[in-house]
Amino acid sequence: ELKDNTIIIVLGASGDLAKKKTFPALFGLYRQGFLPRDVKIVGYARTKMDQEEFHKRQTSYIKNPNEEPELTKSIEEFKAISTYVSGGYEDGESFDNLNRHLDEIESAYQSKERNRLFYLALPPSVFIPVAKNLKEHCYIFRSGVNRIIIEKPFGKDTASAKELLESVKEHWKEDETFRIDHYLGKEMVKNILVLRFANVTMNAAWDKNHISNVQITFKEPFGTEGRGGYFDEFGIIRDILQNHLLQVLSILTMERPVSFAAEDIRDEKVKVLRAIAPIEQSDCLLGQYVAANGKPGYLDDDTVPPNSVCPTFAACTLWIQNPRWEGVPFILKAGKALNEAKVEVRIQFKDVTQGIFKDIARNELVIRIQPSEAVYLKMNAKTPGLYTRAMPTEMDLTYKRRFTDAKIPEAYEALILDALRGDHSNFVRHDELDIAWKIFTPILHWIEGRPGYGNRPRPVPYPYGSRGPKELGEFIEKFGYK
Ligand code: BG6
Repeated sequence: ELKDNTIIIVLGASGDLAKKKTFPALFGLYRQGFLPRDVKIVGYARTKMDQEEFHKRQTSYIKNPNEEPELTKSIEEFKAISTYVSGGYEDGESFDNLNRHLDEIESAYQSKERNRLFYLALPPSVFIPVAKNLKEHCYIFRSGVNRIIIEKPFGKDTASAKELLESVKEHWKEDETFRIDHYLGKEMVKNILVLRFANVTMNAAWDKNHISNVQITFKEPFGTEGRGGYFDEFGIIRDILQNHLLQVLSILTMERPVSFAAEDIRDEKVKVLRAIAPIEQSDCLLGQYVAANGKPGYLDDDTVPPNSVCPTFAACTLWIQNPRWEGVPFILKAGKALNEAKVEVRIQFKDVTQGIFKDIARNELVIRIQPSEAVYLKMNAKTPGLYTRAMPTEMDLTYKRRFTDAKIPEAYEALILDALRGDHSNFVRHDELDIAWKIFTPILHWIEGRPGYGNRPRPVPYPYGSRGPKELGEFIEKFGYK
């Protein structure tokens, strides 16, 4: 249910995330009529700027190349419901000032109800003071709901994540808190539950008896490009594997939830995550890109410390110790500066029993999350003609061909709408996060060279624009990929 009398407050309104993702998503929802009636948007950040300058930044990523009149009109309306307040993140007075601005907007409401959704598009260093200040200075105690959306990074390992979670929890209840992992808002990630549980055929083959190995892959064709300062502190495992890819894995492998209710889904995710052992060093392949094809290497980025051994590529194999999945390798792999942009799940089934067929290709189910959403099954069929010979072919559900009119929502649109409706299904629960960290913390400490974890690993070099380290082929073969 959407609530009337809602203000959406975007903190960090002058930053990159707000500009590139949050405001375009809010605009998308606004334009399609999905925001609450009479909604207002308030931007907040340290930067001092007037309303006009704010509006310019706020809409700088909204595309309207042909200046379509209708779109131009919506953009103007969107600006008209948006205002800006500047202030610090640490001091109470700034938040009192923000609160006065919100009160003023709300004084025009007919009913007493007031609802505030705070979106923290902020660096982690200010999460805690902002969460506290919002609660102390901007929280509606009477009639209305308060919600807070926060974004990763949620800490750097089990201990720091725990500290962060607990500090936020002192001020915000679990049902008021929405932890975003934007992969959970992607159409094809949401599709996994339906594919698995609404199809007898899929469901019947979804276990160790039929599946040989699974790969969940993230590839980006660009490097850190100026974002090296952030990246070097975190690395590819914290940036992509520990959150985005592990979330996909949990949905892919959880048992069927009792209902679609948020807690039923998240209970099942937690259960399967708890059955995953911490990753072994020998189950990892780490890489770092070097200059090639006219592009700079990771260490050539001025924002990266010289001699950094931070991995920009990682492949890690996870094992789920439960009866459904015992012995099936789940290979999560992610890399920057690779040959293409692609995120996909590749489920490789076992060989058919030998006998009438020899050397026949395995079935493979591919869920392409992006770009160009698709689900396809590699399968064997008889070569057409007067022979009985099998050949590999595909059953292909490519969305843009099949659902020609469908508009696939942006992940952030879907998630902000969920938060406005109070639906937590596609947000990360505190215990999920804790277990996710436990799976990765030992190898992260090893990579950081902490004492007691063995020799610090050196990532292997791979050329910018390549498919990754040359050792990758052997790595995935080792885990049964043919
Ligand atoms: C973010 C990472 O969480 O996800 C970025 O911090 C990455 O490094 C991005 O580029 C990828 O998101 P998407 O939606 O483009 O796949």
